[in-house]
Formats: sequence, structure tokens, C-alpha cells
Amino acid sequence: MDSIGSSGLRQGEEALSCSEEGLPGPSDSSELVQECLQQFKVTRAQLQQIQASLLGSMEQALRGQPSPAPAVRMLPTYVGSTPHGTEQGDFVVLELGATGASLRVLWVTLTGIEGHRVEPRSQKFVIPQEVMLGAGQQLFDFAAHCLSEFLDAQPVNKQGLQLGFSFSFPCHQTGLDRSTLISWTKGFRCSGVEGQDVVQLLRDAIRRQGAYSIDVVAVVNDTVGTMMGCEPGVRPCEVGLVVDTGTNACYMEEARHVAVLDEDRGRVCVSVEWGSFSDDGALGPVLTTFDHTLDHESLNPGAQRFEKMIGGLYLGELVRLVLAHLARCGVLFGGCTSPALLSQGSILLEHVAEMEDPSTGAARVHAILQDLGLSPGASDVELVQHVCAAVCTRAAQLCAAALAAVLSCLQHSREQQTLQVAVATGGRVCERHPRFCSVLQGTVMLLAPECDVSFIPSVDGGGRGVAMVTAVAARLAAHRRLLEQTLAPFRLNHDQLAAVQAQMRKAMAKGLRGEASSLRMLPTFVRATPDGSERGDFLALDLGGTNFRVLLVRVTTGVQITSEIYSIPETVAQGSGQQLFDHIVDCIVDFQQKQGLSGQSLPLGFTFSFPCRQLGLDQGILLNWTKGFKASDCEGQDVVSLLREAITRRQAVELNVVAIVNDTVGTMMSCGYEDPRCEIGLIVGTGTNACYMEELRNVAGVPGDSGRMCINMEWGAFGDDGSLAMLSTRFDASVDQASINPGKQRFEKMISGMYLGEIVRHILLHLTSLGVLFRGQQIQRLQTRDIFKTKFLSEIESDSLALRQVRAILEDLGLPLTSDDALMVLEVCQAVSQRAAQLCGAGVAAVVEKIRENRGLEELAVSVGVDGTLYKLHPHFSSLVAATVRELAPRCVVTFLQSEDGSGKGAALVTAVACRLAQLTRV
Ligand code: BG6
Ligand code: GLC
Ligand code: GLC
Repeated sequence: MDSIGSSGLRQGEEALSCSEEGLPGPSDSSELVQECLQQFKVTRAQLQQIQASLLGSMEQALRGQPSPAPAVRMLPTYVGSTPHGTEQGDFVVLELGATGASLRVLWVTLTGIEGHRVEPRSQKFVIPQEVMLGAGQQLFDFAAHCLSEFLDAQPVNKQGLQLGFSFSFPCHQTGLDRSTLISWTKGFRCSGVEGQDVVQLLRDAIRRQGAYSIDVVAVVNDTVGTMMGCEPGVRPCEVGLVVDTGTNACYMEEARHVAVLDEDRGRVCVSVEWGSFSDDGALGPVLTTFDHTLDHESLNPGAQRFEKMIGGLYLGELVRLVLAHLARCGVLFGGCTSPALLSQGSILLEHVAEMEDPSTGAARVHAILQDLGLSPGASDVELVQHVCAAVCTRAAQLCAAALAAVLSCLQHSREQQTLQVAVATGGRVCERHPRFCSVLQGTVMLLAPECDVSFIPSVDGGGRGVAMVTAVAARLAAHRRLLEQTLAPFRLNHDQLAAVQAQMRKAMAKGLRGEASSLRMLPTFVRATPDGSERGDFLALDLGGTNFRVLLVRVTTGVQITSEIYSIPETVAQGSGQQLFDHIVDCIVDFQQKQGLSGQSLPLGFTFSFPCRQLGLDQGILLNWTKGFKASDCEGQDVVSLLREAITRRQAVELNVVAIVNDTVGTMMSCGYEDPRCEIGLIVGTGTNACYMEELRNVAGVPGDSGRMCINMEWGAFGDDGSLAMLSTRFDASVDQASINPGKQRFEKMISGMYLGEIVRHILLHLTSLGVLFRGQQIQRLQTRDIFKTKFLSEIESDSLALRQVRAILEDLGLPLTSDDALMVLEVCQAVSQRAAQLCGAGVAAVVEKIRENRGLEELAVSVGVDGTLYKLHPHFSSLVAATVRELAPRCVVTFLQSEDGSGKGAALVTAVACRLAQLTRV
């Protein structure tokens, strides 16, 4: 079929060839003609069968059922709504594939709702045959060349051009500007394009051409352009129908019905690609010998069988095959054929349209046939007109059956008894073939009586619609750039992380020497991890994380724990110190009663997760509150004394407070009981901090030079001297300013669970103010502090969640959003938590390197005991921390152990060690 659509009529210079057999008599002739035309008759039952079969295929393809292979593709586009009409701006549109061997470039100006319509400027270019069948690069170079030739002639500003690419072949789209060609149709067969992203190929060609800088913003099928360009009318235009060289339709489907999409809300435009429909049961009885011959001789035998009965590229060819057959039988042209009549592609769509039109005079039909080198008699003209009408009527009826299937599908998915819908129609067959349209419309009414359909011819052959999609795509791309700019400061590179590690090392050294430093490096008086010989029953308190816990810890050959969680209301955490400690003692009393321990004075270990200057194991002066606690009259006081005083006030109980322990230390001890190499404790929960075993000789202020002592780094305060300023973003500053301890715990505020949600919230507020999120509308709920909890961040980033579940979580928070919004929120969360994990990793790298150097080792193998809800619940946090440590401390082999029992167990173990040592000294 190489020549179809490209060659015109041959002049009658070639010789006729005539049948040598005797010509049939008049009655035989009319029988032969009847027989031939009869093949093109399609009964109503057959049309209904095609409609039903196509509908079945469509629904099967939507459900994503791969077998048996669905007969239509149902390709989702990235168009989610029909236009608002508010779109504005100048756009270049390049159309390839809709109309035969030509390519069209348009300059479309959208003027929004109010503005006057501006007629587009356009130019058509004929694609040479060798380009249509040559190398893909040649085709795209040709397109780029046409683009610049067109633009050269435009008296307009050509800066920052945005282009919409109408590419009318079956494609898998993966974005508004990403589309992979599945297979060529309609007489195109360029090599090296199938399986490739056609947008990229066009971009490459434009770059090679070099004349203009053009941003290819969107790619659409012609059906989508037709639908999107439809003037907004009384009823929504949700179907686009094209009958041009090929045929196809698109329509707005409920996203939840499209299995390949991970989306349960809204609608998405689906391109049916009905041209490929071929169901032997339904189409078989309708196919004529001419259809088989046409298919056999085409560029793509066996493919696009339905399209080959309807598309304009094939109608002329079908007519030619019938006429040649009738001539050979001696029924037409006195039994003579001409070389032109026997050449593929010699009869074009426009000839068929003209000959079929009853208003065309016999003289014109005569002339067309003569141009084909034929000598038609008077009766031939009429017969030829019958043939054209039969071929076109069948095409219109089949097209109607397909459209009726789409309407039924739409009706099913909308669950409506009657469907009122507008169908935008485009393509030369629809536009220039009045009879085609009237047969189509009449047949649709017969086949889908429950649908009230109005047909609206497309504007500018779909160019306006492509510009509409391009406008939306350009807006989305601009939003993406703003999102990237906003998140850029959160994306830390190796050098930045190495600088954090180096600064941390400096601050550690200063802190240990007792010099001014944002790292306090507090001695804990814990000198060794447990050795397994500890025994007894202990009470433990765990205050300062998400939960306040009271525990009974039984240490025998193993450890048995019974515990109870109590709440600390915010009014208590931020009330008076006395109130807080009275509340703690009340909880202990309650626990003792529940456990039948009343009256017993068990040794008690107190995990108190705030910075304390310890003077011994059982003495800790609270330096300052962190993490949202602010009980009065506690800072500067010995916490153990405050607890003892509360016990005294509550006369009934006797408690023996033996040790006060930071949660990092409790965690290290707890994990150290299982793994003797555990010499670091790390918390990433509400707050963040680390402790590790330091050489005593390096610790100023504690007597003794041999052995080690656990140091509570209080790294949450790292950077409070301004040393993290270069990493701090405007969002960090906002979170800090709004906190109850501005200027304090700057490292913690970039890492821990109490603050990450707030950073996210501030970023979302900013993106909303830029118009990038929530359509720029300020959402009251987003003004609420602390709506994003750690748990929420962890949930939202879980790999197993589909985008629609992310959206559901956000909607539960009271944030109404689109899928685009949900995706952006997810990306914001990812950027924020990734930075947190990397900073945490840089801190751990500083610590392990310090230990390695302390010990003069080439390589260090060490374990880190870790606790905290962010670390434990977040899907990626722990692996990102580990990866950063590997990168920044390559000479250390670091194992992370998650603490299963909380740091209460560690506090009990510290207490047990202290009791053992006390007994030893008594002996
Ligand atoms: C565990 C420990 O629960 O983790 C606590 O037992 C510690 O001592 C806590 O404070 C930290 O995590 P979060 O997420 O509860 O602050
Ligand atoms: C062919 C293409 C399809 C296009 C139609 C009309 O069927 O495969 O994508 O929409 O022709 O041009
Ligand atoms: C805060 C506290 C610190 C604790 C950490 C983790 O940073 O100041 O002592 O270890 O939170 O809970």
C-alpha cells in the first residue's frame, strides 16, 4: 500500500486493458453488481454484535485482563479533566499522523474565557514517501525543519516557545510529555521509533536543527485534541471522535475503572484505539473479499482490521478494488481496466467523497474516472456512485457501532439510566462528508437509544485542544520547577555531609575538653556495659519519649519485663515541676498496686531523656528542657532529688532511686546486654541524641585517666552556636521560631519526629502561597500546628502505599487534594526525611570515626543500639542512615541493633550494676 494517500490520479496516458471473455448480459450485470454491493450491507444485528463485542473488549482492557489479549488497547492519557476555558497564552502545535502524508504546524493563541477568539495560523507540509518509510530520525528531522520554516514566517515573539505535539498513533503514555510508540499505523513505517519516547525524539531533532529553542510540553492523540478543543457547551464534551486517515475515539473514564492507573478518584481520558479491533466472531461475517485483499496488500497485514473498513486512507482503496473487480467481470467500463485502476492508492478519499455525493453531477464523476484512464459509459457513472455509497455507508455504520459501544461504556461507568453527552467530531471524513455524518448519527441513535448525544465539530482540527492540554502541561511543569527549587536546599551532597561530620568532630573535641561547644558531651558515670552477672528485681521509669512508662524488670539469666504506659498530659509537661513529679509518683504507685508490689522498696532506675549534668550515677542536674517539656522550677535542679521529694510528699511509698540514665544510655545498655560490641546508643524519635564509650583520659572534669565512660553527647543541640546556618532553610527557621525553645536544639529540629512534620507543613504552606498546591487556596487545616505526626510521615512514605492511599491519609487530615497534590506532598516528605536521615548518618559517622581514632585502629567493628519511633517506623530512614555512615566512615563496620525493650531495661541494668558494685564495696 506504499502509494496510498500520496499519489494522485494518473492522467489517462496509459493504455486500457480489456477483458477477453464475453461481456455479461444486462441482467447478469445487475446481479453481479447486487452481489458485490450486498457484501457491504451490514445488518442491525451485526452492528449490535460488533457494539457488544467491542464493549466487552473495552471493559476487559480497562480491567487490565491480559488474556485473551483484548482487541482494543484503552490507553490512558494524562489528561484528567476537560478544559475550564481559562487557559491562556501562545502555543505552537505540531500535528503528525492525523491526516495522511501531511504534517501541520499551528500557532494557537488561547485568550481565556473573556478574550476574543483568535484564529490560529497554520501551515501544512507534505511528508515525502521516503520519509514516511525511512529512518525515524529523518522523520523527526523533517518535522523540526517544518517547525522552523513555519516559525521563520511568523511575525511573533519567538522566545520561550511551548509546543504541544499531536501524535496520532497508539502510544503508551507515562506522563503528559512522555509517550512510547507501540506500533505505526496508517501508512507510516519509520525504523527505530517503535518502543521509543516520541517526545524525546522530537526534542532531539529540534536540538539538532538548532534554529529555535522550543519546549515540548505535552503530547496528545488527535482524538484527545478534538475533545479538548470542543467549545464548552450546555453539556459536557466527554468523547472525541476522529475519522480521518484512520479512526479512533477517546472519552473520559472514571479513574477507578482503569486498572493500570493507581487512582480511585476523578476521571482520566482514555484513548480506545478501536482501529485495532478485530473479533473474528463479530467482524468476520462483515469482512468482504475486498477487505481481505486490502489488508493483505497493506503495510501492516493482520493489524488495524477495523480501521481498514472505516479510515479515509482505506475507503478509496476499497472502492478501487471493487471497481477493478467489476471491470474485470465485464460489468463496468466495457470490461476494460486501466493501469491506474490497477495501482494501489490511485483513488483517494476526496474522490470517493465527491463521487458519492448525490449532488455531484454525472459529468464530474465522469471526469474523475477519465482521469483514471477509464472510458465510462452513462450507466457506469451511476454504478460507481453506488459503489462509493455502499463503502462509505458501511464505514459510517461500523463507526456508529463503535461509538455506541463507547457511549454504553460511559453510561455503565457513570451508572446513569440515560446519558446526555456531547461528542466532538474531527477528521476529514467527518468534516467533509455530510452523508457519513448523517448515517453515523442516525445509526448511533438506533444502537444507543438511551443516550442523548449531540455532535459538535471540532475547532481548528483539534489544534486548539492540543494547545489547551499544552497550557495545562506548561502550568504543571512550572509547578514542578517551583517544587524542585523549594526542595533543592534539602538535597545534601557528599561534601555538605562530610562538612557536617567534620564540624561535629570539632564540636565533640571541644565539648570533651570542657570548652564552649554546642555539644555538651556529658559524662554519665556509666563505665561499662553489663557483663551478664547482674541479678535481681528492679523498677524503672522511662520519661521523655512518646510514652511515659513504668516497668518491673526481673534480671536472672535473662531479662523479664512487665510494663505499663501512662500519659503525661501537655498541661502537666508544661505546668509546675511539683505537679509533674507528683504525677510520676502517682503512676508508680498505681503500677505497684497493679503488680502487687505495694510496700516493697525495689531499687529504681530512672530513664530521664533530657540533658542532665551528672555528678554521679544518682545525681543529675537538668540543664534545660527539650522536646516540648517546660515544667517550671526544674531546670538547674537535681532530678533525683525532685523525684525523692515527690515520694516523700506521697508518704505511703518508699522508693530507692539508684541511677538516673539518659535514654541513649539506656538503649546502649539494653542492646549491650545482647551484644558486647554495642558501645553507642542512638535515639531518633520525638527527639534525637547519641551516647558512646569515650576514653576517660579525653574527658575533662572526671577524675581518672584509665578506662572509659559513656558520654551523653546531647547532639540535638549541635549547631546552636550557628555552625549549621549554611544548611538551615527558611522552613527550619520558621519551625524553630514557632517552637517553645527558639534557637535551641537546631540539629534535633532538622532530624527528629517532633519537628519533621512541622517542616513539611511549612513547606506545604509555602507551595500553596506559590499556587503550586491546593490550586493556591489557603487551607485552614494546614494552619494547624503539629498536624503531621511522625507516624504519619512514616505511613505516607511507605512503598506499599498506592498514591490513592496517600491521598486518603491526607484527606483524613482534612486536606482536600488532587493526585498531583498528593504526589507533591509525598515528594516533600521524602526530601525532608531523607535530609534528616543523612544528617543523622553524618553524626554517627563522626562518632564511629572518633572511637576508631581513640583506639588507634585501622578498622573498627562496632554496634549501635537504636531506639525511637521515627527510626523504627519509617520505611527508609534506617537504611539511609546506614548508607550515609558507610559513605562517610568507610573504615568502620557499623551494625545497627534495634532496641526491642526500650531503654527502661537499660536503666534497670545500670541500676543492677550499681547495686552489684555497692554490695562489693560493702563486703
Ligand atoms: C524508647 C525508649 O521508647 O524510645 C525511650 O524506651 C526513648 O527511652 C524513646 O525516649 C524514644 O523514642 P520516641 O519516639 O518515643 O521519642
Ligand atoms: C489511528 C491511530 C490512532 C488515531 C487514529 C485517528 O487509529 O492509531 O491513534 O487516533 O488513527 O487518527
Ligand atoms: C532530646 C533530649 C535528649 C534525649 C533525646 C532523645 O534531645 O535532650 O536527652 O536523649 O531527646 O530522646
